[in-house]
Amino acid sequence: MLRRARRVSRREFLKVSGISLAGATLLGVSGCGGGGEEGGGGDGEEIVFSWISDDTGVLPELIDEFNEENESGLRVRFREMPSDTGQHFDQLRTEFQAGQSEIDVIGGDVIWPSQFARSEWIVDLSDRFGDQEEFLEGPMQAMRYEGKVYGVPWYTDSGLLYYRQDLLEEAGFSEPPDTWEELQEMARKVTQDAGIQQGFVFQGGEYEGGVVNGLEYIWNAGGNVLEGDRIVIDSPESVQGLRTERAMIETGTAPEAVISYKEDESHAAFIRGDSVFLRNWPYVYSLLGSEGESNVEPEQVGVAPLPVEAEGNQSYSGLGGWNFFISALSEKQDQAWEFIQFITAPEQQKTNALDGSRLPTRTSLYEDQEILDSVPIARLGKETIIENTRPRPVSPYYSDMSLTMAEQFAASLRGSVSPEEAVSNLQRELENIAERGGEI
Ligand code: GLC
Repeated sequence: MLRRARRVSRREFLKVSGISLAGATLLGVSGCGGGGEEGGGGDGEEIVFSWISDDTGVLPELIDEFNEENESGLRVRFREMPSDTGQHFDQLRTEFQAGQSEIDVIGGDVIWPSQFARSEWIVDLSDRFGDQEEFLEGPMQAMRYEGKVYGVPWYTDSGLLYYRQDLLEEAGFSEPPDTWEELQEMARKVTQDAGIQQGFVFQGGEYEGGVVNGLEYIWNAGGNVLEGDRIVIDSPESVQGLRTERAMIETGTAPEAVISYKEDESHAAFIRGDSVFLRNWPYVYSLLGSEGESNVEPEQVGVAPLPVEAEGNQSYSGLGGWNFFISALSEKQDQAWEFIQFITAPEQQKTNALDGSRLPTRTSLYEDQEILDSVPIARLGKETIIENTRPRPVSPYYSDMSLTMAEQFAASLRGSVSPEEAVSNLQRELENIAERGGEI
């Protein structure tokens, strides 16, 4: 199938040539990774693969590799989608509802399969996908709908606490915080001692990432959204979770601006060296130390599970991750599968782990010494992180549930509704969605 030559990674290449990743994007070096240039497969067919622009630079590298080295002559053209998951989802939904899309392979969020499968926008992969047992159970479960499998997991995501180990040590703290209260205290001392602007940054915007952050505060205070198929969000624990999130701003631990932050704004503040703590996904680790973009080196940073409300509570992180689906409108489903097999193979997942600091979905890679040595998040990965991840509610109506959670969590964080009102509004609205849909 593929001959894999040793290649300089795109990140290394850009470093060697002195171009920063941000500059490269402006110059158009990235974005359409691999799709734009001629050559490689020659007269082969083309398939269209849609995903977001990859901050880590790994995806263009892998697409180029596929285009240059696959023997069937198939070429993949990359189509860039909005990096905000909700906007990304809306764009796909518009195309599918119109029955028209050029996309063959969809790079899709872990929260989409039930809705996409129920709407028949993606195809059942059960007959093609033979090695399912080699993948982690959490991400695999998210790919199933009514007993069939609709996607192949690429990498899995888990919310993490990044912290400035160097500054914590200088301020006399030898361990990261276990509770949100400790985080606030440490942030107060370290910002003063080190003269750093911000204590903590996270994703507080009114969008999908804000939903995951809000849920993490609720879960880490002992609350939940669903119990079986019952909505249970209106609880004192959920109120406490949202109160703690709001307190981050009230106490000045987080800047007021977090109410509009998504992944990019929050990681930018941290890698610039402007914040002591950051809640984000594993990819941020690979951005540390990149020339022209980061003032913070990986050696200065520690990574830990998210803090909890009270000592002894279990720490939960939101399960995220990206997967490959085949569009039901595609006339090139065999070719789409050929590309999916390539990009989810152990070798490509390993590249994604080493160069993109992303958690593999193939279980065996958690025993790969090279990954364990160079990606600290993978060491943390299997035991502490992956087992602590919790899925967002799995439902064909998730996109509606998400919109209402995004709205209420953001309003509570801004202080325009109280945490009590937010969870009681959510209880009512989520119950309405469940009633309308008949099930959750
Ligand atoms: C990450 C996660 C994804 C989540 C998104 C929210 O990309 O992998 O599951 O929905 O962040 O912003």
